[in-house]
Amino acid sequence: MKACIIGAGSSGIAAAQVLQARGIDYDCFEKGSQVGGNWRYENDNGMSSAYRSLHINTSRRVMAFRSLPMPDGYPDYPDHFQMASYFDEVVDRYRLRERIRFNTEVLDARPVEGGVGEWEVTVEGPEGRETNRYDAVLVANGHHWDARWPEPAFPGAEEFEGEQIHAHEYRESDLLRGKRVLVVGIGNSAVDIAVESSRIGETTFLATRRGAWVLPKYLNGKPIDEVLNPVTGLAPIPVQRAVTKLSLGVAVGDPTTYGLPRPDHKLFEAHPTVSSEFLPRLGHGDITAKPNIDRFTGGRGVRFVDGSEEEVDLVVYCTGYKISFPFFRPEVFSAPDNKLPLFRRVVAVERPGLYFIGFIQPLGPIMPLAEAQAEWIADLLSGRAALPAPTAMRREIAAEEEKQRKRFVASKRHTVEVDFYPYLREIRRERKRAASRA
Ligand SMILES: Cc1cc2nc3c(=O)[nH]c(=O)nc-3n(C[C@H](O)[C@H](O)[C@H](O)COP(=O)(O)OP(=O)(O)OC[C@H]3O[C@@H](n4cnc5c(N)ncnc54)[C@H](O)[C@@H]3O)c2cc1C
Ligand SMILES: NC(=O)c1ccc[n+]([C@@H]2O[C@H](COP(=O)([O-])OP(=O)(O)OC[C@H]3O[C@@H](n4cnc5c(N)ncnc54)[C@H](OP(=O)(O)O)[C@@H]3O)[C@@H](O)[C@H]2O)c1
Repeated sequence: MKACIIGAGSSGIAAAQVLQARGIDYDCFEKGSQVGGNWRYENDNGMSSAYRSLHINTSRRVMAFRSLPMPDGYPDYPDHFQMASYFDEVVDRYRLRERIRFNTEVLDARPVEGGVGEWEVTVEGPEGRETNRYDAVLVANGHHWDARWPEPAFPGAEEFEGEQIHAHEYRESDLLRGKRVLVVGIGNSAVDIAVESSRIGETTFLATRRGAWVLPKYLNGKPIDEVLNPVTGLAPIPVQRAVTKLSLGVAVGDPTTYGLPRPDHKLFEAHPTVSSEFLPRLGHGDITAKPNIDRFTGGRGVRFVDGSEEEVDLVVYCTGYKISFPFFRPEVFSAPDNKLPLFRRVVAVERPGLYFIGFIQPLGPIMPLAEAQAEWIADLLSGRAALPAPTAMRREIAAEEEKQRKRFVASKRHTVEVDFYPYLREIRRERKRAASRA
């Protein structure tokens, strides 16, 4: 048994650590020269979306790998430099670095014809191009690097005489200095960039097609995600919602008081937007909320759907990311419109031997979940556990999609959204069931 891991971001190194601990042979290929993926600022893989001021928004105790806590001296919400250094510590502690082939990009992965579960993987690195066979492919190339621009573009966008960028390209706040900035979206990129712009830009507008429940980073002096823990996380979602809403009511009140639209969904039905600074900046008048863009009107003009018009110099589209696998031909595997029908978000039912790590968007951090996914995959690869029959997995995927439709707002950003503790429990239960099948 030999596995191929694509990527050495947090998900890829979680997989490498688990496979190594279980004595499963693997190759791990990393396009860049360092580990950490998105958390390596100015990563030479050219894929990181980290900007200079980025801090995590899921607190460190909840976000750390269960196998290695973050250093005690770290703040509750470390910055990207500290995160990258934590990932360096992980690979050094577990002696993974020497097993990772850096500066080596996976160009193609395809099932071997007639070989059930066998894969042929082509990579290109310092030693040139090579193709090898594996018994399993673990995809960990991340899903926050391929910018999703508005589709279709807003009318008149091509003629707009100002600058238009996607949040993926945003690095330093200097870009915003003295400008009239329009931020589009109300996810975490949008509120972070709008807050930066509110301090350094001339004027900042934030246009959103939907309201959001904006959560502060702290409640009662504790990181907000620590309020939810393995015990409180057992409560049904409506109970969690009622308790959080009560605390939110006291801490920040209703989003409409800050000029934001009323959310068209309940709390926790959308990916959480977390910021302790955004609402006060709206309250100070340093950010002005606008509804969605209607069209660009020529020159630097923008009209919004309420008919109001403004002149802006720079539009920052914080409109999310596409799930992309450039190393698969579309007939092998793809995720059109971010749809990724996998058994328990990991197993590609129609492609034996193909597994995905970290392709979830949790209400909480990705890392401990990626680690749990890796443990389950290691069970399967080592023969300690077995999958259900394909028909049963397809049934489960269909049921999960139905649940998903009811649970979260319909949007391309929510196709892989999961509840943190319920998903962790689901993987643990699946491991037990899988072990009993082996
Ligand atoms: C601005 C921003 C802030 C975020 N903040 C948080 C947060 O606070 N908490 C949280 O839990 N999540 C956060 N996320 C989500 C983020 O995706 C995860 O934290 C984490 O980076 C996921 O790790 P990953 O390994 O799955 O992907 P990545 O970090 O993207 O790593 C993927 C790796 O695969 C490599 N790779 C890609 N293609 C190839 C190839 N063909 N061949 C070889 N190697 C390849 C890349 O070089 C990269 O090193 C944030 C995302 C963004 C964009
Ligand atoms: N640690 C941090 O502080 C931090 C900072 C930035 C990002 N992140 C993480 O990075 C990931 C990506 O976040 P993100 O904010 O970049 O993207 P995102 O969560 O996908 O949010 C995209 C936003 O753009 C809107 N949008 C998409 N297409 C649009 C269109 N055509 N017209 C108008 N609005 C449109 C979406 O609205 P709908 O909801 O209506 O689709 C949503 O408000 C998330 O996991 C996030 O938590 C974390």
